[in-house]
Amino acid sequence: MRILVVGNGAREDALSWGLAQAPSCSAMFAAPGNAGTAARGPNWPIGATDGKALVARALEEKIDLVVLGPETAIAAGVGDRLREAKIATFGPNRSIGRLESSKIFSKRFMERMRIPTARSRVVHSLANAEKVLSDWRGGCVVKADGLAAGKGVVVAPDAPSALAVLREWYGPGGVPGGGSDVLLEERLEGREVSVFAIGDGKRFVPIAAACDYKRAGDGDTGPNTGGMGAYSPPYGFPDDLHEIVRERVLEPVTRGLAAESERYVGVLYCGLMWTASGPFVIEFNVRFGDPEAQVLVPRVRGDFARLLKSAADGELDEAAATFDGGACVGVVLATSDYPRSSTPLRDLSANVALPEGRVAFWGASSPRGEVVDAIGGRVLTVTALGNDVPSARTNAYAAVDDLARRMGSGVSLSYRTDIAKLDPETRAPPEGY
Ligand code: AMP
Ligand code: GLY
Repeated sequence: MRILVVGNGAREDALSWGLAQAPSCSAMFAAPGNAGTAARGPNWPIGATDGKALVARALEEKIDLVVLGPETAIAAGVGDRLREAKIATFGPNRSIGRLESSKIFSKRFMERMRIPTARSRVVHSLANAEKVLSDWRGGCVVKADGLAAGKGVVVAPDAPSALAVLREWYGPGGVPGGGSDVLLEERLEGREVSVFAIGDGKRFVPIAAACDYKRAGDGDTGPNTGGMGAYSPPYGFPDDLHEIVRERVLEPVTRGLAAESERYVGVLYCGLMWTASGPFVIEFNVRFGDPEAQVLVPRVRGDFARLLKSAADGELDEAAATFDGGACVGVVLATSDYPRSSTPLRDLSANVALPEGRVAFWGASSPRGEVVDAIGGRVLTVTALGNDVPSARTNAYAAVDDLARRMGSGVSLSYRTDIAKLDPETRAPPEGY
């Protein structure tokens, strides 16, 4: 199978790495790709949202499977275009992308299908928000409707703080993502976990779960980021986590999509808050997470390419690959100014090879011979496997030290030191994670 991965982040590097090892893969391509994908096959200089150019090149190169990495490609309708050209594609069509690209669309869908989710109200203006918040009790999560690259959600402890956010959004700052609709949501208490399911157009199969760390600093402090680390499998959740999610979330999603004659082919990322009464959906994403993909792919046993191709062909072969190859921890190394800005780092060493069981995945970057220019804030995700989460964590931080030393003292990268840190007695993550 000749496989194209679309995107240029560490998620796409991980997908390409996993697919390249699959027995059924004969050649790997990426568009636009990064320093990691370039080591496995050609990077095409085509942007992830340029459906027309991607279709033309995929036909020319006789691509058998396209895997869409980022939500921007899905929201741009790249999946629709590839399917129109009869190219097998793992990643949903644009209409389904609204489950992620519009928080209001997604909330309405969940309400119609009675999927457990936080109660909410939609507001369109400051006056409207003032009225709704005048009798609001408890914490309030303020969410801009559209895609806002991780900047569209603020968790406010109470109504006055929520109002302060809205004054900014409906004033000089503008609503992140550019629209005017904002969702105000009840703040849920619990622990977050993400469950990943693969859809083949007819059904969903949960494949794995992970926990990620969104804040920039240790102890969950500092600004929100795209994600500073992750681990899988999650600790401290019920053993039948997948079954519960299948029953309460995936089955109603399947019924809802069938009612709308939608075929979901790709990954459904269920971002959950596990409350005292079980899982509530915080968000749906229509693709693998970043950095969650980086800790899921190293756990794959079997033929990852066949798994994704069978879904793209409409008949998921769930036995083709499983995600049970030990535990995996991933630590993101970011530029020291991330997420406020991200100063490109030039001339990094291209050699990030690590011993067996440890892999470093490149974020957005371009290779130049022996060196690499990093062009995004998240430079590398360093991952390691272990028999359990604590040993994977030890291995991951050993790999981080190793790489930091090799990068040299002139390169300043920052990272969290508490990814997958578990309480030594309860073996659960500290309170609040
Ligand atoms: P989202 O972009 O919707 O995933 O939200 C970003 C983060 O905000 C989530 O990972 C949660 O930590 C937090 N969050 C979102 N919605 C809620 C909610 N209803 N209650 C508590 N925390 C939330
Ligand atoms: N790590 C969160 C995301 O990919 O949306």
